[in-house]
Amino acid sequence: MTDFRADDPRPNSLEARDKASVVHGLTNLRRHMEAGPKVIESGRGVMVRDVEGKDYIEGMSGLWCISLGYGEKRLVKACSEQMEKLAYGHLTNGRSHPPVIELAEKLVSIAPMPTARVWFANSGSESADCAARLCWYYWNAAGKPERRKFLAHRKAYHGNTIASASLTGADYAHDQFNLPLDGFLHVRCPDFFDEGAPGETEADFTARLLRELEERILAEGPETIAAFFTEPILAAGGVIVPPEGYFEGLQAILRRYDILLVADEVVTAFGRTGEMFGSTTMGLSPDLLVCAKGLSSAYFPISALLINGRVFEAMLAQSDRLPLFGLTMTYSGHPVGAAVAREAIRIYEEDEIVERVRRLEPVFFDALRRRLGGIDVVGLIRGRGLLAGVRLVESRAPRRFFAPERRFGPAVAQAAERNGLFVRAIGDTIALCPPLIIDEREIGMLVERLGDAIETAARSL
Ligand SMILES: Cc1ncc(COP(=O)(O)O)c(C=O)c1O
Repeated sequence: MTDFRADDPRPNSLEARDKASVVHGLTNLRRHMEAGPKVIESGRGVMVRDVEGKDYIEGMSGLWCISLGYGEKRLVKACSEQMEKLAYGHLTNGRSHPPVIELAEKLVSIAPMPTARVWFANSGSESADCAARLCWYYWNAAGKPERRKFLAHRKAYHGNTIASASLTGADYAHDQFNLPLDGFLHVRCPDFFDEGAPGETEADFTARLLRELEERILAEGPETIAAFFTEPILAAGGVIVPPEGYFEGLQAILRRYDILLVADEVVTAFGRTGEMFGSTTMGLSPDLLVCAKGLSSAYFPISALLINGRVFEAMLAQSDRLPLFGLTMTYSGHPVGAAVAREAIRIYEEDEIVERVRRLEPVFFDALRRRLGGIDVVGLIRGRGLLAGVRLVESRAPRRFFAPERRFGPAVAQAAERNGLFVRAIGDTIALCPPLIIDEREIGMLVERLGDAIETAARSL
C-alpha cells in the first residue's frame, strides 16, 4: 500500500492527512493523490474560506443545498435548542414528537399536491429509494404486482443508493457497480440543445421524445411499468430545462397507461426556481414528491417524501393485510433535523425568499447573457430562478461540441476556482446554483469571475 504521507513534503498538513485517510466521491482517486484536496474551513453568507485564507463565492451552494447561505444564526439556534430539549426521537411503533408533526403539517400545507402525507429520511437518495419501494408497495396493494419497472431520463440524477443510482441515468453511477438493477429503464433526455437533430425545431423534438416514450412503454408492456421519475429541471445532468409542452405530453401518456409520476425535487424545491416547488414552475402533478437539500438548507441531513392520497390509501389498505408497514430508519424524522427544517421554511416564508428569487432571476440571467453571451465558446445559457447552466461548445455555428477528453468544462471550473469562485463542471456545462440569499452585487462578482475563467480557459485551448 502506497504511503502518500511519506512522499509528501508536508506530511502533517491537512492535505497530506486527507490523501492518506479520506475517500472522495465524484473524484478521480488517482488524480486526487497528485492534486490533493481543497480544504474549506469556514463560511459566511455566500462566501467560503479555505485553510490558506483564500475566499470563494460558493456558486453551487455546496452541492446545490445551502440555500440560506452560511452562518444563518436562526438555524444554529433551532438546532441547539432542539438538541437540548429532545436530542433524539423516532417514528416507529407509533411514536412521534412535536417537531416532526409541525414539519409534516407545514410541508403538506405548501406542497403542490392536493392531499399528502410525509415520510422522512436522511438524504435525497434514501427518499428516492423509498419512493421506488412505495411504488412497488402501491402496485402490490392494487393487485398489480407485475408493475415493477421504472422509467427515468438519461442524464437524470436521482441519487446513489442502489435503487436511486439505478434511476440515475449516468454511466459513472453504474460502471463497475453492477448497476442499474433490472427493470430500471432510461429514456432520451429532454435536452434540445444536445439531442435535437439538425434542422429539427424544438416542437418537433418534443413530439419525437413523446413518441419514443410511448413506443418504449408499449414495447415494455404498460402493465409492467410502476412509475416514471423526473426532476422538474435536470440539475446534475447539466441544468436541463425540458422544452415547452414536454411535461404536459409526458403526463398525458402516463395517465393513459396508469403509470405513477414521481417528482424528484431534491434540488428544485424551496424557492430555487422562483416557486416554492419546481413542479409548480414546470407544470408537474406528481403522485410522490422527493425533497431534501434546501429543506433544512443543508444545516442537518433530512429529506422528505410526500405521498398523495391515492398512494397513501393503498398503504393504509395494506395494513389490513400485513402486520405493519415495514419501512423504517433509525433517523427517519429526527427531531433536530425536523426542527431545523421547520425553521428553514419559516425563513423562506418570512424573508420572502421565493419573491426574492423571482426578483433576482432577470438580474442573474441578464448579467450572464451580457457578460458571457459574446464569448465564442458559450453555446447556450439556460435555467430558471437562481439555477443556471452555461453550455460550452467548441464552435457555435456550425455547432461542434468539445471532445470529452479535452476536459474544457473542468478547465473552466479550475480557472474559476483560481478567481475565487466555486462552480461545477458537468462535462462542458458549468452549473450555477448560488445561495438564494445572494444579492445583486454578489451576482455581479460571480458572473465577472466566471466570464474571466471562461476566457482564460478558452485562451489556453
Ligand atoms: C435531483 C437529485 N435527486 C437526488 C439526489 C440525491 O440526494 P443525496 O445526495 O442527498 O442523497 C440529488 C443529489 O444531488 C439530486 O440532485
